[in-house]
Amino acid sequence: MQDPAELSVAEVIRQRRTVHLFKPEVPPRDLILEAIDVARWAPNHRVTEPWRFHLLGTQTAAQVVDLNARLIAAKSGPDAAAAKRQQWSQVPGWMIVTSARSNDSMLETEDYAATCCAIQNLTLFLWSHGVGVKWTTGNVTRHDEFFQILNMAPAENRVVGMLWYGYPAEVPTQSRKPVAEIVQELP
Ligand SMILES: Cc1cc2nc3c(=O)[nH]c(=O)nc-3n(C[C@H](O)[C@H](O)[C@H](O)COP(=O)(O)O)c2cc1C
Repeated sequence: MQDPAELSVAEVIRQRRTVHLFKPEVPPRDLILEAIDVARWAPNHRVTEPWRFHLLGTQTAAQVVDLNARLIAAKSGPDAAAAKRQQWSQVPGWMIVTSARSNDSMLETEDYAATCCAIQNLTLFLWSHGVGVKWTTGNVTRHDEFFQILNMAPAENRVVGMLWYGYPAEVPTQSRKPVAEIVQELP
C-alpha cells in the first residue's frame, strides 16, 4: 500500500479495496468521527440527511457476533457457527449505517442512494488514512434481534451496511471491465 497521505482522489478511489483481514489494532475514535463528518457531505436530494452511524462498542459487537453464530448454527450446524464466531470475533471496528424509511417510496429510494454515497465517502476517507473497510449486508442485518441490539425500529430504519474497519492485514486485488464495455456513446 502506497503512503495513503500522498494519494490523489483518483488514486484513493482506484486503490481502495474491500478488506477482509485486519490487524488487531482498533483505529482511533476521533478518526472514525472525522470520517463520519466527511461522509455526511454526500449528495442528498432534499437534504434529508437520512443516514445514521451506529458505533458498536465491544459489548454490542459481541451481541451481533453471537446472534450471527446462532443463525449460522440453525442453518449450517455448530462447526460452521464456531468458525464464523471465531472469524467475526477478530474484527477490530464495527459500525452500522442506517437510512430512514419512509411512506414515500421515491424518497426512501433516494435516501438509500444518498446513504450509499455517504458510506463511500466514509470508506474513501478512511482508506486515505490507511484504514480499510468491509461493507457487508448479511442476513443478520435484517433480523429482528439485530434491531433490538441496536435499539432501533425496523419500520423506521433500513440497514444499508454493516461496516467492519481496521488496518488491513492483507489488501486483495480486483479488476473491472474496460471502459469501452460500459459506455454507450450517443449522437
Ligand atoms: C451493498 C454492498 C454489500 C456488500 N456486501 C458484502 C458482503 O455481504 N460480503 C462481502 O464479502 N462483501 C460485500 N460487499 C463488498 C463487495 O463484495 C466488494 O465491493 C466487491 O467484491 C468488489 O471489491 P472492491 O470493493 O475491493 O472493489 C458489499 C458491497 C456493497 C456495495
